[in-house]
Amino acid sequence: MKKIVITGAAGFIGSRLARQLIPEQCLVIGIDNLQSGLMANMKDLLDHPRFKFICADVSSNSIMLREELDRADEIYHLASPASPKFYQSMPFDTIAVNTLGTKNMLELARTTGAKLLYSSTSEAYGDPLVHPQDEQYSGNVNTWGPRACYDESKRLGEVFCYEYFTRFGVAVKVARIFNTYSAGLRSDDGRILSNFISQALTGLEITVYGNGMQTRSFCYLDDTVAGLKLMMEKDAANGEIINIGNPKEYTVLEVARLVKQLTGSASPIVFLPLPKDDPKRRRPSIDKAKRLLGWQPQIELEEGIERMIKDYRQRLAEKGKL
Ligand SMILES: NC(=O)c1ccc[n+]([C@@H]2O[C@H](COP(=O)([O-])OP(=O)(O)OC[C@H]3O[C@@H](n4cnc5c(N)ncnc54)[C@H](O)[C@@H]3O)[C@@H](O)[C@H]2O)c1
Repeated sequence: MKKIVITGAAGFIGSRLARQLIPEQCLVIGIDNLQSGLMANMKDLLDHPRFKFICADVSSNSIMLREELDRADEIYHLASPASPKFYQSMPFDTIAVNTLGTKNMLELARTTGAKLLYSSTSEAYGDPLVHPQDEQYSGNVNTWGPRACYDESKRLGEVFCYEYFTRFGVAVKVARIFNTYSAGLRSDDGRILSNFISQALTGLEITVYGNGMQTRSFCYLDDTVAGLKLMMEKDAANGEIINIGNPKEYTVLEVARLVKQLTGSASPIVFLPLPKDDPKRRRPSIDKAKRLLGWQPQIELEEGIERMIKDYRQRLAEKGKL
């Protein structure tokens, strides 16, 4: 039976990936230190005979001694806080997991012969000067600011991947994931859609940073997970960096208005100062993903937001907040 290690298994993407892999007759070993993930994300997985959970820090060398990781076939290295709210509150842990944690997982891949997918990010492009961003673009990243602990450590993680691919022939794949959302995302995650939908449903002001003319693209989780699985499956992705994201671009203000309309909320849209180093435009070129993986996103933003609103409404009602 194929043994698949997922780091960050209690997180938003890792828990969904685990849920999809288990029915495919795989043994899934989930590792997480619960820094930004939740046990609740794995509640339906924990009793499954083909899911094993290890509560541990992948940045620590002791992870390499865990016998459960012997003979791994595939490693999805997803551990790392993803939301600025979380990574800015734990900058040193964020730097560690993307560098030392990545090196540990690459070492595991080297010794077991496993394939490894590293979850990098669109933040590797920083505040991009090229639009849309393709994988050749080397980015415009600031080392001296509150986002640097995430952006730069993800970039250094990519460097570790490059070295293990070129020196040791590890079958490494680097996914530069763009903003991913869906039902199930923590309502206190702090990113655009979780903020706007929570605010709209509870009658709070919808807070747009800056004038709202900065752009983002939004990829529904099912599409992102499908892209990651294809990257793992296809040899053509070995030694490649591939953008996984939705190329449709929206201004933040358009998204705020769409959420307001779809929720039927009376919440006013208000404008707050733009955080430092906030990217002005963000849109992936996915030509490489189409060419190498035959992948492109399927779920439109409006449909995804509708699903998220339904989920948030249900959760708020359960807590007696609606
Ligand atoms: N969600 C997105 O929009 C997005 C965009 C770009 C990149 N990514 C990347 O995808 C990956 C998964 O993102 P997510 O949205 O699921 O984030 P998440 O915060 O929901 O999940 C990350 C998980 O990693 C765990 N973790 C953090 N440090 C760890 C450590 N040292 N050892 C073990 N576990 C640790 C956290 O507890 C959490 O469960 C991350 O690497 C993130 O940087 C996500």
